[in-house]
Formats: sequence, C-alpha cells, structure tokens
Amino acid sequence: PRSVWLSRHGESLYNLNGKIGGDADLSPRGHQYAQKLPELVRQSVGGDRPLTVWTSTLKRTIATARFLPENYNQLQWKALDELDAGLCDGMTYQEIKDQYPEDFIARDEDKYNYRYRGGESYRDVVIRLEPIIMELERSEDILIVTHQAILRCIYAYFMKKDQAKSPWMNVPLHCLIKLTPRAYGTDEERWQADI
Ligand code: F6P
Repeated sequence: PRSVWLSRHGESLYNLNGKIGGDADLSPRGHQYAQKLPELVRQSVGGDRPLTVWTSTLKRTIATARFLPENYNQLQWKALDELDAGLCDGMTYQEIKDQYPEDFIARDEDKYNYRYRGGESYRDVVIRLEPIIMELERSEDILIVTHQAILRCIYAYFMKKDQAKSPWMNVPLHCLIKLTPRAYGTDEERWQADI
C-alpha cells in the first residue's frame, strides 16, 4: 500500500465507565471526534483523493466514520471487531480481578497468549487478522477505524514490532495515525485531535 491510516473509534460510553468490550454508543466527546475526523483526514491526505474506509461491525466504529465524505467507500469487517473478552465482556478490570482473580493474574503474566474464557487471546486476533492484512497489502489508501487491541496488532505488523509485545502498546484515543511503508522501514505521522 502507499499509506494506511489508522484510528481508534471515538470515546465510547463503555470507555467512560472503564468497561471492556460490548457494543456501546459514542460518548459526547467521542461524537466530537467523529465530527473532527474528516478534517484530520483532509490534512493528512495531502490532496483530495478519496480513501476507502474499513470499520468493524460495532456501533462505535461505524459512528466514528459517519461524517467522512460521501465519496469514501465504506466496508464493515467482522474481523475488525474488538478482541472478544468472552465471559468478561462488559466488565471493568476491577470486576474481573474480583470475580476471576486467577485469570486476571494469568493475563498479566502472558497477555499475548491469555485467552478469555469463551473469548479470544491476542494470538487469536493476529490469526483472524490475516485476511485483513492480505487485503491491505494489495490495496491503496485504506483508512481503518477499529479498536485498541486490533490496532495494536495491525500497527505491530506494519512497524515490524514483536507481536508478543503489542498487547502493552498504548494507542491513544482521538488520534489519526498514517503509516507509509518505505524500502527502509515504515514512516509514521500522527494527528491528535484537541478534544
Ligand atoms: O478499554 C477499551 C478496550 O478497547 C476494550 O474494549 C478491550 O477489551 C481493551 O481495550 C483491550 O485492551 P487490553 O487488552 O489492554 O485489556
């Protein structure tokens, strides 16, 4: 690809309450980010060629992409949905610690391989992202609006970082990242929204 644009969805009501997973709507701040995103994208593209937008199937990514120009094709991928926390979906980290203390420790000790009960591990996510990565490799000008865990894996792939370390990487909210693969490595630029 020439470049790949990456963004987390705007802040969700679950983010506000510290709950993981779920399918919550955007918070008022998250909604502001959605309104701001077309402007950030315009700044980052340099020219007015349209991008193709890939979101997950969850409300918060679709809502984040909804103010992008009409000539941007949009596609929803189930494979871009957030890491499935299984039984822990919708809980706070404190609730997980109280109700599943052994799991909480096991995840901290090996976050890449830990699989939530009835859910997924980061390793599982890396495998389910393979078709996405293949499609990305043969596409141009894709903007991906997805979730923190998913972005960690995609980012590590393009930046040639160790996937096993990616679960600890910080991916800020309300920030647009542009990655441009080059012969010597991948260039990275970021635009942080001031909201
Ligand atoms: O809290 C936001 C979130 O995207 C959750 O939905 C998700 O479970 C979590 O981050 C992933 O981060 P971590 O793997 O660090 O718990």
